[in-house]
Amino acid sequence: MRGARRVRPCRARLPVPRPHRGRGARGGRRAAGAGPAVLVELPGRIRAWAVTRHSVIQALTTDPRVSRDFRRHWPGIGEVPDGWVLGSVAFQDSLVNRYGEEHRAARGRIAPSFLPRRVKPMRPQVQATADRLVAALGALAPGERADLRSALARPLTMTVICDLFGVPDHLREALGALIDRVLDSSLPEPDALAAQTELYERLGELAAHKRAHPGADLTTDLLLSDRSGEQPLAEHELVGTLFTMIAAGFETAVNLIASAALEMLTHPEQLARLRAGAIDWTDVIEETLRLEGPVMYVPLRYALEDIDLGEGVRIAKGDPIVVGFAAAGRDPGEHPDRPDEFDPGRADKGHLAFGHGPHFCVGAPLARLEAEVALSTLFERLPELSLAAPGQRPARLPSLVVNGPEAVEVVPRPRTGTG
Ligand code: HEM
Repeated sequence: MRGARRVRPCRARLPVPRPHRGRGARGGRRAAGAGPAVLVELPGRIRAWAVTRHSVIQALTTDPRVSRDFRRHWPGIGEVPDGWVLGSVAFQDSLVNRYGEEHRAARGRIAPSFLPRRVKPMRPQVQATADRLVAALGALAPGERADLRSALARPLTMTVICDLFGVPDHLREALGALIDRVLDSSLPEPDALAAQTELYERLGELAAHKRAHPGADLTTDLLLSDRSGEQPLAEHELVGTLFTMIAAGFETAVNLIASAALEMLTHPEQLARLRAGAIDWTDVIEETLRLEGPVMYVPLRYALEDIDLGEGVRIAKGDPIVVGFAAAGRDPGEHPDRPDEFDPGRADKGHLAFGHGPHFCVGAPLARLEAEVALSTLFERLPELSLAAPGQRPARLPSLVVNGPEAVEVVPRPRTGTG
């Protein structure tokens, strides 16, 4: 999209959620009512079409006239500022930003490792990690507080993905903190640039470490595929793929676990129904994915031709598109019955939280497994778990990309004599 000549005046600014002010996935619902696509201004003064309606997202994510390849298909790329806060996602050099045959080839290298039959045997290891983390929560003194995000959801998902990719202990914390930082859409550009640079240096260290110490892990597999007759992965693509996999592998599932725990703790009647067997953890997980999709907006896709969406909206060739996957679950056109209400017993929990079409999430079976193990272990072992500040909604993450609470403060065991 070049300047304002080919576009209509910007009608909305896509606000970066701020602590205490973010609206989570709810904001997209308003946009869905405004038309099939709404022209917005992203951080960095980049204009893009935001799509949040379930049916339009399905149509555009399967439309061959829409690409994720920024190199080949974004004529406006020259206008992007250095250190653009959304660049960490929009410019990942990996399967996510490939189109057509290149995408199929890149996906084929990694996706088989995450098929349900490969994920199922991971359960005992995920369970062992959940057991350890929940036991630590249970060992707190009565009345003591803890944050479920940092004490359970984050270490669980980080451990699982780092074990899979053979990330050595000395790199784990640094990688996790840098990934959190590059997904913070409120960072000033120099800080975002510094974080992106440092993250890629650390990922380069990971690749070097695995070359020197190969093991039974997916990073080693990616390195070995360099030598097995397939098109070799260039270093920048290897590092880009590691970023995609580690970031997508933990930032998203953390939010699924944190949001589901928060919803259950704020809806004790649903917890009672679960304990009575009227609903199960799958219902809770799917309803959380519908209501609080962990991936809010994915930047960017590009129109290869003019695309007429009806209702007077035409996306012009080369225009960027940002897809609001989380909002689709609250689209009143799809869920006319109480779209903003948490009800795991509802019959239709349809959502697009894992995307749609050729880029559909590779890690969906793993994320569902992690969430089920984490939540069932937590609520079974700590039956008296409660929110530390009932009635107060926690702040949202300051990100356009990921959606979830910054913290879920709980009291794992009631103070003796009060509970
Ligand atoms: C609750 C957890 C998760 C959610 C909500 C989620 C969401 C998504 C979404 C919406 C997409 C599509 C992006 C697009 O089309 O633009 C996606 C793609 C992807 N996800 Fe996930 N994800 C989750 C967990 C995971 C995990 C655990 C992994 C890795 C183990 C993973 C790896 C990927 C990869 C590699 C892609 C790109 C696929 C492609 O471009 O072909 N995700 N995810």
